Amino acid sequence: MISKQTIKKILSLSCIEDVIGDFIKLKKSGSNYRGLSPFSNEKTPSFIVSPTKKIWKDFSSGKGGNIITFIMEHEHLTYEESLRFLAKKYDINIDHIDQDNDYNKHKNQEKEEYEKLYLIQDYAKRFFINQLHETKEGQENGLNYLIKKRGFDIEIIQKFELGYAPIYLNRLTYTALKKGFKIQDIKKSGFTVVKKSNYFFDCFRKRVMFPIHNLSGKVIGFGGRNIDSKYSAKYINSSESNIFIKSKILYGLFQAKKNMIQENFCYLVEGYTDVISLHQSGIKNVVSSSGISLTVDQILLIKKFTKNVVLFYDGDRSGIKASLRGINMMLEQEVNVRILLISNGEDPDFLSRKYSFSELRNFLSKNSYNFVSFKQKIYEKFYKNDPIKKSFLIMNILNSISKISNVIQKELYLQEASKVLNIRQQILIYELNRINEKNAHKLKENPTFFSKKKNTILVVEEELIQLILNHGNQIIKKKEQNTTVLEEVLHFFKCWNLRFSLNKNQEIFDQICLKNKKTDLSKFFDKKNTKFYSLSKWDRKGIQVSSKEDHLNQYISDILLRYKSLYIYKLIQKEIIHYKNSLEKDENRKSCIKKIMHLTNIKNELHKKLHRFV
Ligand code: CTP
Ligand code: MN
Repeated sequence: MISKQTIKKILSLSCIEDVIGDFIKLKKSGSNYRGLSPFSNEKTPSFIVSPTKKIWKDFSSGKGGNIITFIMEHEHLTYEESLRFLAKKYDINIDHIDQDNDYNKHKNQEKEEYEKLYLIQDYAKRFFINQLHETKEGQENGLNYLIKKRGFDIEIIQKFELGYAPIYLNRLTYTALKKGFKIQDIKKSGFTVVKKSNYFFDCFRKRVMFPIHNLSGKVIGFGGRNIDSKYSAKYINSSESNIFIKSKILYGLFQAKKNMIQENFCYLVEGYTDVISLHQSGIKNVVSSSGISLTVDQILLIKKFTKNVVLFYDGDRSGIKASLRGINMMLEQEVNVRILLISNGEDPDFLSRKYSFSELRNFLSKNSYNFVSFKQKIYEKFYKNDPIKKSFLIMNILNSISKISNVIQKELYLQEASKVLNIRQQILIYELNRINEKNAHKLKENPTFFSKKKNTILVVEEELIQLILNHGNQIIKKKEQNTTVLEEVLHFFKCWNLRFSLNKNQEIFDQICLKNKKTDLSKFFDKKNTKFYSLSKWDRKGIQVSSKEDHLNQYISDILLRYKSLYIYKLIQKEIIHYKNSLEKDENRKSCIKKIMHLTNIKNELHKKLHRFV
């Protein structure tokens, strides 16, 4: 924890108009400063900074506070991160106070673990940058490729901290070891494979390197593109680690976030090079889901900055398919979506090199459509107005409209559809109601069908049981000694004194534990169920278990964390009810609040581990 003295020092030494002036253009107005709100899209400035009172107030969004809250709001940092940000700007040393209890020790250990991973990524970043600019191989292969083949200029190469991984078998690993990093940590960070216990190989070799940043600008992973194609994969990406979870990351977000807020929309593109090229052309509100198909978490991440997204995928079939999938996902998350329609063979990278900035701007606004018109255009293009296909088109559009929850928007899109498709609105409404009925029916039959599947305790409980049934005896490697999946789960449950909330599940669990290792698990198998939870499902979640037990390990710790977090959530709910019922007795209420706070702290910790945003 940062000491009170340090916080005081930061507040007294920092100059509010100076800090805010770094982000917003401020104009003196009396004893105050005035500027355009960075939190809304206003034309007349209503954002006021008072240097004497050391506060700011934004009348268009209602937000306000001191310099720390400004950094928190504007940069989307936590309280502590904001303090660090300011301390760095004013060169203030940070004093910590240690709270020496078990809980904090545990927390610190974990922090150190994370810190280690960040340090290695940072080391690798600097290594790759150095290789790119300072070595002959880097200049001839890497820099040459980036400048000549990709048309990047030095400024953009530096802004995105691009680098180069040399051809040598293990130069990065070797120098990192010499710097004092541990081989397990380098391995965990995805830079090295170890063969026959003593041979190290760098995972990235002869590639230009794209570092991937988190929201505060720290590198958490890399994508590496080969430069002479043919023989190996075009891209290799870092494996997932505690700090690098692909489904929750957007490439370019760190560089784009300010512009996303300013312009109040962003482009979503497919790849690394698309992001960088557009930036270089002056379009800076761009992010990419680089390499994986768009996830709900990524959409929620965008929504922290803007609710308006323009899909800007490649003009080929797979780009169109990705757009169609993206549309429904965006609508479900209440994001306003438009889609760029571009020719086959073109992509954002190509277009930003083809056009000048103003031409590109023009092109982008001319060729972006709402989803109704986009679908209509696609249909025209591929089916040349075939009337049978047209009914599919109509149903497809209505299906998308059914995802919109805002009634007014729904109505507006129905009007649009009626116009574009040339069909009376009443008929569309009739069909839309049928779709809604069908969905309601599905919901009744299978309640988890629409709900957030992952997040109900019963579902996770079932997943756990299936895991034990399918893989209970499988051995997983641990640092101290090997163990089995079953033992791991059992240990966890004992440790935290947990019980399954469904008796049926607890019974199964008890029985399996009783017989332990040599149980005949077959009688618990329900063909239908096990198939549903089979490993291929994990593959689809992006977790490959088939090849490496590493992944099984990761899956287990993930599912156990998820379970515990839901368990604690349940306890909190219980305590809250308790609190509400104990209206008179002050004693009870105090202890209730204490408990709730304690549990909430644990829950937040768990969420952090799960890398959720709280
Ligand atoms: N990608 C990946 N692994 C691959 C291929 C693609 O991770 N084997 C990801 C990368 O993030 C890539 C994006 O998917 O940027 C889009 O793929 P693609 O269009 O093939 O690559 P570009 O980056 O556009 O590369 P280029 O312009 O050099 O073809
Ligand atoms: Mn591409």
